[in-house]
Amino acid sequence: MTSNPNHQGLLERIRTKKAKIGVIGLGYVGLPLAVEFARHGFDVCGFDVDEAKASQINAGQSYIPDVSQADLGEVVKAGRLRATTRMDELAGMDVVDICVPTPLRKTKDPDLSYVVRAVEAVAASLTRGQLIILESTTYPGTTDEVVQPMLESHGLKADADFFLSFSPERVDPGNRKFNTRNIPKVVGGVGPASTEAAAALYASTVDTVVQVTSTRVAEMVKLLENTFRAVNIGMVNELALMCHKMDIDVWEVIDAAKTKPFGFMPFYPGPGLGGHCIPIDPYYLSWKARQNGFECRFIELAGAVNSAMPDYVVERVAEALNTVRKSINGSRVHLIGVAYKKDVNDMRESPALDVLELLAKRGAQVTYSDPYVPELRHGGHVLTSVDLPAALATRPDCAVICTDHAVFDYDALLTTDTLLVDTRNALKNRQSSRIFRL
Ligand SMILES: NC(=O)c1ccc[n+]([C@@H]2O[C@H](COP(=O)([O-])OP(=O)(O)OC[C@H]3O[C@@H](n4cnc5c(N)ncnc54)[C@H](O)[C@@H]3O)[C@@H](O)[C@H]2O)c1
Repeated sequence: MTSNPNHQGLLERIRTKKAKIGVIGLGYVGLPLAVEFARHGFDVCGFDVDEAKASQINAGQSYIPDVSQADLGEVVKAGRLRATTRMDELAGMDVVDICVPTPLRKTKDPDLSYVVRAVEAVAASLTRGQLIILESTTYPGTTDEVVQPMLESHGLKADADFFLSFSPERVDPGNRKFNTRNIPKVVGGVGPASTEAAAALYASTVDTVVQVTSTRVAEMVKLLENTFRAVNIGMVNELALMCHKMDIDVWEVIDAAKTKPFGFMPFYPGPGLGGHCIPIDPYYLSWKARQNGFECRFIELAGAVNSAMPDYVVERVAEALNTVRKSINGSRVHLIGVAYKKDVNDMRESPALDVLELLAKRGAQVTYSDPYVPELRHGGHVLTSVDLPAALATRPDCAVICTDHAVFDYDALLTTDTLLVDTRNALKNRQSSRIFRL
């Protein structure tokens, strides 16, 4: 048992669920986490700069597909979750979990401005015995090089007066099998007391907690996971290009390869990377590595291959149109699905936006169907989603399946004479000379 009264008191408040938990940033990561803490009996306050989000939560309305109306409504009604934009209320929290965005600048350098602003608010009211946890994905060293000095600037010492940990968020929006509760949670503190406190907190809400020896290891774990995905997707995208040249169906190759029961894991080609994680996080790592005199060649190469995929998709559209003596210029091209992945409404970094831009630049008239994305604003384009059957009835020259949402009727596509460019193998096992697979 610890002899530090700050630590002892915190562990006791966590054990008895009397700890008040503040979650800063109520987006795809923060809101599910806040609801999970509240469902486990903690008194939770969400903090966001966006007033609309705070009011929606207080009215029991969920704006994140993975958080059900019923779950949110229940904890709000029970008085265990509320939201505010008033950062001075952070002073009353025992635990503060930071889940704000970590985007890239145009130069592909990390933009830590959201983290810095959130930590400034925490530092302004830091009190003894508080546990601060950073969940935003970031480069190794952020917690001890950036966050810790800011928090210690008023005189309190980390791992003694207050506690500081990093715990990467692994939520996979739209995944019905794995959620905040059953995804193992990795935690690493700036010292043993911090690791112990964060581990105790998560152990009371998630099934499995994995402790590591430092915040840097915990930060690196997340970047390894996402870099692993980015590099493997890059490799399989290159394989798709190669197979096309060799007249081999890459999808059939992957399906057969994945029957190997060990040593292989399937990754699939597609129109490019999307979302707030895979296209961005590896650059946090390569930036930090460069500061240490190390070039991450795999990350750069995968980035180059993956970011060229929208161009390749447009080339395939040109190839499809060419078979009926048409050009992209003047053709009507309909995009099927524009969200960055199946069955979600998230448009961040969606490769469909690049496909749209490239097609429009080459003179195509572009329309789209996506029930999850009623309106699309990108660059100078403002488009409204058209119901897929209605869009097909107008007989577009070519349709491009960018996102394979489960709600689409793929068989209906084959009853038209529209050319079909399928970037996701959504038309698997269907045969037609009008299908052009990636
Ligand atoms: N979305 C995912 O699937 C996912 C998965 C794992 C990790 N992450 C990481 O989690 C972090 C958050 O991502 P997200 O997808 O939840 O982002 P998001 O944009 O959905 O939500 C972030 C929220 O933070 C709020 N915010 C910004 N600055 C703030 C401030 N200073 N104070 C209070 N609130 C502030 C925004 O208004 C927004 O509501 C990022 O680092 C991301 O890389 C995301």
